[in-house]
Amino acid sequence: MEGDVVIIGAGLIGLALARELAQRGASVRMLETGEPGHAASWAAAGMLAPSSEGLDGAFYELCLASLERYPAFAAALHEETGLDVHLRREGFISPAYDDAGLAFVERRAAEARERGFHARMLTTAQTLQLEPALAPVRAAALFEHEASVDNRRLGRALRAAVERLGVRIDEGLPWVRLAATHRRVNGVETASGFVPASIVVNAAGAWAGSLEGVPELARVPVEPVKGQMLALGMPANLVRHTIYARHGTYLVPRDDGRLIVGATGERVGFDTRVTAAGVQRLLERALRVAPGLKDLALVETWAGLRPGTPDSLPYLGPGAIEGYFLATGHLRNGVLLTPITAEVVADAIEGRAPRIPLAPFSPERARAASNVAS
Ligand code: GLY
Repeated sequence: MEGDVVIIGAGLIGLALARELAQRGASVRMLETGEPGHAASWAAAGMLAPSSEGLDGAFYELCLASLERYPAFAAALHEETGLDVHLRREGFISPAYDDAGLAFVERRAAEARERGFHARMLTTAQTLQLEPALAPVRAAALFEHEASVDNRRLGRALRAAVERLGVRIDEGLPWVRLAATHRRVNGVETASGFVPASIVVNAAGAWAGSLEGVPELARVPVEPVKGQMLALGMPANLVRHTIYARHGTYLVPRDDGRLIVGATGERVGFDTRVTAAGVQRLLERALRVAPGLKDLALVETWAGLRPGTPDSLPYLGPGAIEGYFLATGHLRNGVLLTPITAEVVADAIEGRAPRIPLAPFSPERARAASNVAS
């Protein structure tokens, strides 16, 4: 494609979109107030798990389409940059401890099988044989199609890929502000000067709803949803599968010997402090799921902000004024949705027919909902 695109936000979503557009021939520039790949993109656990996350409807389809793209996406990044993003394909174990939990994982496993994926139920003994650090379970589901990626490595790889393509990234900008009339965008004002552009993409994650300069009719609500996380130092292969317990407790093994434990989900504004209560909750839940972890060293704690939307669906595609596009609001699934978001938003910018129905993710729905409410 021809033409200039400015992307606000150099997280995984913005970087993957920049790569896709640059590969299609666009001239792309990125504007970032922090460090590329260092907000939710850095904080995430990197799970690629539409079944374990309990997703459904059009969002489940979108997530499955993105999961399907991951092996080729990771391989292409390796080819382009020499960086390995550590895609782990051991699969996910979802333990059940009671009737409700069992019904849930059995249903998700059956749904996955209907879609042609390998998903099967494990007995208590089979589960403990695969993962001896776990507490006894009633049963568990093994989702072999689910995977994880080291999101921090993915951020570095995407940054290297876009830089190789000649994309300029202006980082650490004190502020950015959309320059637009109520009809169309003209560019972006920044602390370092005006950047003209006929196309501007808001990929600012949890900050997307507070981007200044967006005319009222094109604003969409985005709320930060804080996730506190921690990492334990793990002897090789102590935990091999990602363990995804209900109520959002998960253990994600990394190739570098860390075991990521997540996560809280807190609506407390733009607060990224790690709190005593947050760490207590994570450790309590993790040790209930896997008492065999109790002697591991606690090596890192951190928190990040997921971009939440009122209906928990992302905003993908054109906004309400000409030249303004959104790629944000991915809440708990930004890492998973990175490849498909790049593809479908690049298609929308190029005016190509969507290869996946995008109506459920149209930024316009936010306006329609607020019209109904008012
Ligand atoms: N996808 C997991 C989380 O956001 O905590």
